[in-house]
Amino acid sequence: MTIRTLTPTDVKKYRLLRLAALHEQPPAFGTPAEKEEKLALEAMVLRLQESEDTYILGAFSDDSLVGTIRFSRFEEANEKHRGFIAGLYVRPDFRRHGLARALATEVLVRARQDAGLRRIHLTVITAQDAAIQLYKSLGFCIYGTEHEAFSNQGQFYDEHLMDLLLQAKTN
Ligand SMILES: CC(C)(COP(=O)(O)OP(=O)(O)OC[C@H]1O[C@@H](n2cnc3c(N)ncnc32)[C@H](O)[C@@H]1OP(=O)(O)O)[C@@H](O)C(=O)NCCC(=O)NCCS
Repeated sequence: MTIRTLTPTDVKKYRLLRLAALHEQPPAFGTPAEKEEKLALEAMVLRLQESEDTYILGAFSDDSLVGTIRFSRFEEANEKHRGFIAGLYVRPDFRRHGLARALATEVLVRARQDAGLRRIHLTVITAQDAAIQLYKSLGFCIYGTEHEAFSNQGQFYDEHLMDLLLQAKTN
């Protein structure tokens, strides 16, 4: 198993896995699958252009992309001390082998190397126990719950807001 940053050359593999993630039931993501299906490949390529402030990590088994996680930093100068993670997904046949933990841990290792980053945020559907357990084990805490954050197939889903303080506060 290899973990590395995705690049535009991974776009077709990324698209396949991303659509599988958005179609999964019960839902793990609020983004409608139909919206992403209509997205041109070029738009997804843009998403895979790594910068200092945003990247997607992929977990590969041989040549197959089987897991992802996205890191982005808030853009405004007065918010750049915060980042967020999203899109954590592992293909069902590769679950329970430590891949999600490895992906999330790599993001946190990178984040801790950046002295300007203090806090990482995420949202997670309240029914996604596996993800919540993982995030808690990495030190994330729930600081709020957004009720009926989105609907999917006629049902409403709540989302927990979680965060992790990376650096000791200096003021
Ligand atoms: C959540 C998810 C990414 C976990 O992937 P995974 O590779 O199976 O996870 P790991 O094997 O690395 O397990 C890491 C931890 O997650 C938790 N976990 C994973 N699967 C679990 C399950 N079925 N039940 C309870 N806890 C579970 C455990 O705390 C586990 O740590 P442990 O092995 O020390 O007990 C995967 O189940 C998934 O893709 N789910 C759908 C998408 C999703 O919910 N994404 C989160 C969006 S915020």
